[in-house]
Amino acid sequence: MNRKVTKAIFPVAGLGTRFLPATKSVPKEIMTLVDQPLIQYAIDEARAAGIEDFIFVTSRGKSALEDYFDHSPDLEASLMKSGKDQLLEVLRNTYMDSGAIAYIRQHKALGLGHAVSCASRLIGDEPFAVILPDDVIAGEKSCLQQMVEAYEETGGAMVATMEVAPEQTASYGVIDVAEKNDRVMSVNAMVEKPALGTAPSNYAVIGRYILTPDVLKNMENIGAGAGGELQLTDAIASEIDQGRDVYGYLFDGQRFDCGSKAGFLQATVAFALARPDLRDEFTTYLSDLGPIKHAAQ
Ligand code: UTP
Repeated sequence: MNRKVTKAIFPVAGLGTRFLPATKSVPKEIMTLVDQPLIQYAIDEARAAGIEDFIFVTSRGKSALEDYFDHSPDLEASLMKSGKDQLLEVLRNTYMDSGAIAYIRQHKALGLGHAVSCASRLIGDEPFAVILPDDVIAGEKSCLQQMVEAYEETGGAMVATMEVAPEQTASYGVIDVAEKNDRVMSVNAMVEKPALGTAPSNYAVIGRYILTPDVLKNMENIGAGAGGELQLTDAIASEIDQGRDVYGYLFDGQRFDCGSKAGFLQATVAFALARPDLRDEFTTYLSDLGPIKHAAQ
């Protein structure tokens, strides 16, 4: 039986340059899809998967993110007094138990691999999850929960994967699949941002991982990779070189790349249409979009 996964790292120390100027003062993870910040979707997914310890790797200018998880006694009292029970529940869902959340600093944005390794001391000798909040994944069962269940059978290191168009592989980590068994694939090799036409498959790595402390040790021995950054993909690929198992998990769900403007806008539309309180009004708006677009020009 493989050990239970109860810790998750949320690397949120990136510069978020694709959303400038907003990210000059607003952390990307606090930007909202409808009325919920990206980070809340990630937390809800982690909780559904049984995560109990939440480790954030942050950087300068991310204090709004830390404040977000604070308790708000005044607001709570006001909602209680006015009988707004539903909003009270929404508010309480943002709370974190004292001691369940830790913040670690990454002083320089040296890459995702480096950000994850900054949390090494809090991980100890346990498997752990990594969640990138700018990949938002909608689905009946949370993506991480699907992976945790698969991991209980496989052990090893596991990355979430999805099929992308061949011309998109250069933007992702890509796995070389040795064998596919339903949703679980054993991985022969992994490469970060392969040059166009050289990708070993169309299976891209998406921002959910279950990793072992060995991967953190590998970080000490890898050099800068794609884009001059310390790449998590390279540290995971080292596992394969050392004869340990790495798996890809083809998750069931729809992923939105909220780190890009187009993906963020698509997610906003999809999540708004999924909300009973907005669906009708928003559908009417979208069906009238032609004339609105014309008027805006
Ligand atoms: P991205 O590649 O999306 O980079 O990082 P970014 O800085 O957030 O955004 P752009 O590309 O400048 O617009 C993927 C994830 O890895 C984290 C980011 O916070 C994001 O969650 N990350 C990246 C770090 O925590 N530290 C790093 O040094 C790099």
